[in-house]
Amino acid sequence: MAKESLMACSQRYIWLYRLLLVSIEVLRRRLELGMFVPLAKLVDLYDGFRQTHMLAGKSYLLLQTDGKVFLIENRCPHMDAPLATGHIQGGAIRCKAHGIAFDLTSGKAQGPLAGTLDCVERLELTYDGDKIGVEL
Ligand code: FES
Repeated sequence: MAKESLMACSQRYIWLYRLLLVSIEVLRRRLELGMFVPLAKLVDLYDGFRQTHMLAGKSYLLLQTDGKVFLIENRCPHMDAPLATGHIQGGAIRCKAHGIAFDLTSGKAQGPLAGTLDCVERLELTYDGDKIGVEL
C-alpha cells in the first residue's frame, strides 16, 4: 500500500515538474517576443494606406505600397521632418522637406547624401489572426 502511495505521489511530482517546464518555456517565449501590439486589420490595408501610430513614445508610419506593408519611424533622419506626408515611389519614400528619398526596405537614404545620413528606423511587422502589428 505504501509503495503504491509513493508511486502515485512521484507521478504527481513528475506531472507538476513537466507543467513547470512548460510554464517556464511559455514565459521565456513571452519575454523574447514581447507583447503583440495590433496596428491594423489586414482587411483594411490597401496600396496607398497610411496610418501613424505612437509606439514607445515615438511616432511610426504604417504604410502599404506595391502590396508590401512597412512600419517606419515617422521622422526623417535629415532634419526630423515627418515622413507621413512623403511621396512614395519605387519602394522609397521621399521626404517633403528637402526631397531626400529613403528606401523602405533598408531604410537607407538615396542620392548624394546616402552615406552621410542615418537610416530611417524600421520595425518588423508580425501577424496575429486578422491583424498586423509589432512585438514590443
Ligand atoms: S528633413 Fe527630410 S529631407 Fe530634410
